[in-house]
Amino acid sequence: MLGISIFEFRICFLRVGKIIAITNQKGGVGKTTTAMNLSSSLALANENILVVDSDPQGNLTSGLGIKKDQMKAGLYEVYTGKATMEEAMQQTLIPNLYVVPTSMDLFIAEIELLDKTGRETRLKNFLKPLKDRFRYVFIDCPPSFGILTLNALVAAESVLVPVQCEFFAVEGLSLLIKLLWRIRGGFNETLDLEGILLTMYNRHLALSRQIAEEVRRVFKSKVYDTIIPRNVILAESPSHGKPAVLYSPNSTGAQGYITLAKEILNDHNLLF
Ligand SMILES: Nc1ncnc2c1ncn2[C@@H]1O[C@H](COP(=O)(O)OP(=O)(O)O)[C@@H](O)[C@H]1O
Ligand SMILES: [Mg+2]
Repeated sequence: MLGISIFEFRICFLRVGKIIAITNQKGGVGKTTTAMNLSSSLALANENILVVDSDPQGNLTSGLGIKKDQMKAGLYEVYTGKATMEEAMQQTLIPNLYVVPTSMDLFIAEIELLDKTGRETRLKNFLKPLKDRFRYVFIDCPPSFGILTLNALVAAESVLVPVQCEFFAVEGLSLLIKLLWRIRGGFNETLDLEGILLTMYNRHLALSRQIAEEVRRVFKSKVYDTIIPRNVILAESPSHGKPAVLYSPNSTGAQGYITLAKEILNDHNLLF
């Protein structure tokens, strides 16, 4: 009897969704690549996943194979009340991976939202009815700290921060952590740091190794064990409208994200 109730509790617990913003104010550090391949790896492990493209550049949208003429509505239409999240949401090539796509119009939302009341809680409210249908909801943030990123950080329970293994990684991270503390103080007091992900690691470069060591020394257990290597397949696959984990699953890049997905799922299982 007790066994069954613990089992039921476990099922219930696993079904509760978690919203994670993938963010870093720096461009080109691997946010979109992580959003695309981590969400795909988790979906391939049979988890229901939603990924929201909150960068007006729309690289995640095109990388997941969504074409503009197939888009019923995107995040801009949701922000402006022309569509619901449900209407904008689209299935991807992986059946249990859904995306809320975006177009360049989202640039306008950044301006239009400025004088609206409750402007920073909009995404949180849009996601509320959907959240528990998914194990994870990821939000791919733009490389800036405007109203779109603020909405993501207010909606999220935690942030996943990709960091490129290059000079100034620690300085950039320290700045980001300060910004997160400001968000906790003013907008979202329970916002947590989910984890720091080292990306574009080149094991042949002493610099890559030094930066990885330095980030681990400063941020300790907050850094994922998994390191994403520099691998051209990760850069190539979006032009084929596929995540690397579908385009070339045995590549070192795809394997990196599959290992990260396992690390994240195991981490949660440790709770039981
Ligand atoms: N591990 C990697 N190895 C090689 N290229 C990568 C890797 N991660 C990302 N890239 C490439 O680097 C560029 C920037 O990555 P992206 O994920 O778009 O960063 P961001 O979203 O932070 O701006 C893209 O062209 C992407 O394809
Ligand atoms: Mg991006």
